[in-house]
Amino acid sequence: MRVLLFTGKGGVGKTTTSAATAAFAAARGHKTLVLSTDPAHSLADAFGTTLGNEPTEIDDGLYGQQVDAQHAFEASWRSVQDYLRDVLEQGGIDPLEAEELTVLPGAEEVLALLELRAQVAGGRWDVVVVDCAPTGETLRLLALPEALRWWMRRVYPADRRVMRTVRPVLSHLAGLPFPPDSVFAAAQRLTDDLSEVRELLTDPASTSVRLVLTPESMVVAEARRTLTSLSLFGYRVDGVVANRVFPGGDSDAWRQGWVQSQRAHLAEVRASFAGVPVWEASYAAAEPIGLTALAEFATSTYGGIDGAAAGEADPLAVSATVDPLSVERVSADEFVMSISLPHADRDHVELVRKADDLVVTVGHYRRVLALPSVLRRCVVDGAALRDGALRVRFSADPAVWSRS
Ligand SMILES: Nc1ncnc2c1ncn2[C@@H]1O[C@H](COP(=O)(O)OP(=O)(O)OP(=O)(O)O)[C@@H](O)[C@H]1O
Ligand SMILES: [Mg+2]
Repeated sequence: MRVLLFTGKGGVGKTTTSAATAAFAAARGHKTLVLSTDPAHSLADAFGTTLGNEPTEIDDGLYGQQVDAQHAFEASWRSVQDYLRDVLEQGGIDPLEAEELTVLPGAEEVLALLELRAQVAGGRWDVVVVDCAPTGETLRLLALPEALRWWMRRVYPADRRVMRTVRPVLSHLAGLPFPPDSVFAAAQRLTDDLSEVRELLTDPASTSVRLVLTPESMVVAEARRTLTSLSLFGYRVDGVVANRVFPGGDSDAWRQGWVQSQRAHLAEVRASFAGVPVWEASYAAAEPIGLTALAEFATSTYGGIDGAAAGEADPLAVSATVDPLSVERVSADEFVMSISLPHADRDHVELVRKADDLVVTVGHYRRVLALPSVLRRCVVDGAALRDGALRVRFSADPAVWSRS
């Protein structure tokens, strides 16, 4: 079982690459599903066919599915949303505005990932390819389960009986309705479901993320930032597809200019993503639409039908990459936690220990890491950002350690 996620800046070719990769996998005899959460129905357009909300057969062993995210969203979020709206309205917010405020931008996308989990759990597929939303959004959303769980831990005490007694008091004090049981249940279910999705998406044995980019300065810059934040959240980037590469050859000055500029950016991409394969997809003479064109796109990008060219990485395998997060015992009472943060700028990294959590902030992204139990009994001695990794040193807290 293999899950390949494709993300990248808007318009770089995520849908095309996802569709082509799925066709490539199916042609090798893997029962393959390509799933899109994009409400724009681009995946169906790429195949030049129509796709439903259930897996739809496109070719032998190749299925496509366009998840109706709105539907999933309504079902899971409705009661939480109703509650939030009540709270806002009682707080004096205009009902229309309250309705607006309770719509989580992009939440549909993350709930669509629940469908991915269901498909994987069904055991029907060898390979599942996911055409994800553009960079920033997917990132933020993929971190949602962790953030939700953190929030639940604080808002809701572990013992629900306590809740029942304190609710009326709290409601009275705050002058706001305290969340009813139905909201608690819905939020709890959502958190559990999403945690499972996150587990699947960070499973090193099955899942990895591929970045799609075009060899242009702004796109490459964003891809580098995406690598940093994906690593921060524990996702494994194990390949890059550089799309729309102009073929060289005799040509006019305009084309030569582009070829040279792309060559420079491709060199930068290879340096920035050292250690993972970088596949180049050429700028086709026409849009790669339909199975034949997509299969051609895949073959020229990944290598011939007899597998990738000799010495090249297998495009479907998880390629060896650095562990996004590891804990190493360096002496009897000292540990080092390493968080892979390639390309992170020292000035933009912040680290705060809050009780049993470690809060790591990189630019606009923040991850709250629940510390493993052994580290909870330690104090942070220091941290350093070196060679693309944040290394946090912990040593046993004598006060706590001696008690155990
Ligand atoms: N290598 C290529 N050669 C020619 N046309 C391409 C190539 N790759 C993609 N295209 C075309 O570029 C357009 C955008 O591609 P695609 O829809 O795959 O991008 P995307 O990253 O999924 O976009 P979005 O961010 O809107 O989802 C499509 O019309 C597609 O057919
Ligand atoms: Mg797309």
